[in-house]
Amino acid sequence: MRTIKIFDTTLRDGEQSPGASMNVTEKLQLGKQLVRLGVDVIEAGFPIASPGDFDAVQQIATEVTGATIAGLARAKELDIKSAYDALKHAPQKRIHTFHSTSDIHLKYQFRVSREEALKRSVEMVKYARSLVDDVEFSPMDATRTDIGYLIEVVAAVIEAGASTVNIPDTVGYTIPVEFGEMIRKIKERIGDSAVISVHCHNDLGLAVANSVAAVLNGAGQVECTINGIGERAGNCSMEEIVMCIKTRKDIFNAQTNINTQEIIRTSRLVTRITGIQVQLNKAIVGANAFAHESGIHQDGLLKEKMTYEIITPSDIGLTRTELVMGKHSGRHAFKTRLKELGYELSDSETETAFDKFKRLADQKKEIFDEDLEALVSEEVSKIPETYSLVELKVESGTNLKPTAKLRIKINSREVETTANGDGPVDAVYKAIVDITKTSSSLLKFEVKSITGGTDALGEVMVTLEQDGKKVRGSGADTDILVAAAKAYINALNKLTPKK
Ligand code: KIV
Ligand code: ZN
Repeated sequence: MRTIKIFDTTLRDGEQSPGASMNVTEKLQLGKQLVRLGVDVIEAGFPIASPGDFDAVQQIATEVTGATIAGLARAKELDIKSAYDALKHAPQKRIHTFHSTSDIHLKYQFRVSREEALKRSVEMVKYARSLVDDVEFSPMDATRTDIGYLIEVVAAVIEAGASTVNIPDTVGYTIPVEFGEMIRKIKERIGDSAVISVHCHNDLGLAVANSVAAVLNGAGQVECTINGIGERAGNCSMEEIVMCIKTRKDIFNAQTNINTQEIIRTSRLVTRITGIQVQLNKAIVGANAFAHESGIHQDGLLKEKMTYEIITPSDIGLTRTELVMGKHSGRHAFKTRLKELGYELSDSETETAFDKFKRLADQKKEIFDEDLEALVSEEVSKIPETYSLVELKVESGTNLKPTAKLRIKINSREVETTANGDGPVDAVYKAIVDITKTSSSLLKFEVKSITGGTDALGEVMVTLEQDGKKVRGSGADTDILVAAAKAYINALNKLTPKK
């Protein structure tokens, strides 16, 4: 049986989703989770794009082991050298270089001839190969490229040393029957001399379908992102293509190295980090993906799950109905469960998280994995704090002007203020702005409950902007106003790093 490689580009193409930028700590956290998930390649970023990108790729290359780490580079010496410098400490590294090949791009954007594009691609693949053994080349906008010329470029870069050729549907233009045929023709020409990869965008909602067609016609690697995030309408969704190959093994006669039970956890982590919510009816990871509403379906399911369920929730790691911990659970059980969930905390992080857990257990009868993950991810992705919440009291109600009394620490100094607002959240935020003397604007405010029930842990996510810089903050608490305050303060800490 063939093994299809999964190349995850959540940290690179995924980060190109509007508003999805991640900081280095978040990228490292996600990189480590991608290894637990079992991806073969992690595209960690585009090192030449900014010093921040370079730094993130370098840290991932140094600290994330267990997958090949790739860095993106245009077919330019400076880009390739920068990718190499960022990647050089990774035990397994790949330079992914690209050049457009469609006449549209060559004529209007780059103003170079087909011959020049081919020559540059070959030279740059050779240069990349002088630095690393593993080089991937992408002819950008491949699906709008003349097929004869595309095959010529693909064959030439393989000859120059590329071991993977990635065929991107850069603008999400192709359809399955056409893309399958394109991959078949390339495979016919190159045989097993290199791995054919595909990278499909979702502009027509066909990214997964096109990737399926490619795999059926000889592609051996799929580039994808968690939750399908990415440039414009996004990329092929990792969870969908992987579960498709797994569920219809009979047709694909193929498998992936993905540990599917890590899917839901990875999906939630990406949501938490990027602030991009998954639609309710999204395949595999949407909240309704396993919810059966119709009476006929429920009746069938009660008799035999197979009647209406092609994937079981546990296949993707959904253990929602499993009660995990309660008030009487001890430190040992807490630590063991965290380990099972993939969190390795230091002793001091464990202590802080355990304290939070005990406080939560006083407020909430049943604590589920999702609650634990929310508590712990606050610890894991903690950044040095300029501001921290000490106490919040809010008064509001009918015929009452909402008032927030807030006490926070600025560095180690405690300060207090009171503010009124149009609503309770407005009062809390006015108090924070007043006391911190900050002037960011609130672009987005979202609330969701982590589990069901009136005692559920609520999670608030905010996006703030200051001097053109956008940051996201999140906070979780059983009191939604406290969660809102934590989220705002978390975002402010990202805007004002501790000196
Ligand atoms: O969509 C695209 O063409 C890309 C390339 C850089 C592979 O992201
Ligand atoms: Zn792309």
